[in-house]
Amino acid sequence: MSIKTVFALAALIVAASAAPSNRAVCSKGRTAAHATCCKWFDVLDDIQDGLFDGAECGEEVHELTFHDAIGFSLTHPLTGGGGADGSIMAHSEIETKFPANNGVDDIIEQQRPIAIKHGVSFGDFIQFAGAVGVSNCAGGPRLQFLAGRSNFSFPAPDKTVPEPQDSVNSILARFADAGFSPNEVVDLLASHSVAAQDHVDETIPGSPFDSTPSSFDPQIFVETLLKGTAFPGNGANTGEVQSPLPGEFRLQSDFAIARDPRTACEWQSFVNDHASMVKKFEKAMSKLAVLGHVPALLTDCSEVIPQPKAAASNVGVIPAGKTLKDIEASCKVKPFPSLSVLPGPIQSVPPVPAS
Ligand SMILES: *[C@@H]1O[C@H](CO)[C@@H](O)[C@H](O)[C@H]1NC(C)=O
Repeated sequence: MSIKTVFALAALIVAASAAPSNRAVCSKGRTAAHATCCKWFDVLDDIQDGLFDGAECGEEVHELTFHDAIGFSLTHPLTGGGGADGSIMAHSEIETKFPANNGVDDIIEQQRPIAIKHGVSFGDFIQFAGAVGVSNCAGGPRLQFLAGRSNFSFPAPDKTVPEPQDSVNSILARFADAGFSPNEVVDLLASHSVAAQDHVDETIPGSPFDSTPSSFDPQIFVETLLKGTAFPGNGANTGEVQSPLPGEFRLQSDFAIARDPRTACEWQSFVNDHASMVKKFEKAMSKLAVLGHVPALLTDCSEVIPQPKAAASNVGVIPAGKTLKDIEASCKVKPFPSLSVLPGPIQSVPPVPAS
């Protein structure tokens, strides 16, 4: 054993024995690799008790992560918005007037005081709350959370957030301008597994996009492919198409992206693969959350994000009252996988209670 090796071994032993005390001690006996992450445990406690009413699956807050971050443009770097910079909260009086941001003002007003109380930047807070919100969903992802975004932002311009009535061409073009491929658009849309609408048809607030809105499961990818049969509320609204189940809401954009040749195969790939759906969503979200930032300059506080519970099921099913014949399979290169069919008569999908 050379002197060098002995020194190296000694250094290793010191490092190993010192390791536990290298972790910063945070509130309630929790620890973090970086002391600056400790405050996020306190933010976590506050939002789980307050915003999420005891850690409920919260997609509304997740929606805000997208509406804030997508204000970013590769082709117009100076005028296109600063990405995940908190501008939607700092300049809410401007950005919530944009038609695509209709309804996000409530959640911004609920979040702002918590961000101010803890002295964290709006950009960090929005991404953190969104990551915690989806971690509360059964089968949910555990998103990366990097902290350290500046609190400074300019208002994002209008028309950066895609709307459900937009064509697939225009949606894919907008995402491409923010750096996302067509497949990554599908990956991000996994969030609609735990989502509902309030403002496309205001007569049926909380109508979910699939029959299992508190579970981050593949049902969204199955049910959007079922033949539409009726409108759940007051008829055809802008951005709405017929859905397959009473009470279920279908966005025109989900309908079209599920069937478009550029995106249909990625869409179908998730109907029986929860693990892939989660993994690809986590990856696409790790891009979205740092739009406009240099990730290497941020601090990894992902360990503060709770570990989600398992999903009830890892493969999609055909809802009761429907059969495989009702599936409008749209991927030309792979057959639609065989899924089990739930027995019984067609079920109505209840609205998600307002938080
Ligand atoms: C961030 O900016 C807002 C004003 O837009 C301010 O109210 C808030 O206190 C600032 N937060 C921090 C951490 O500086």
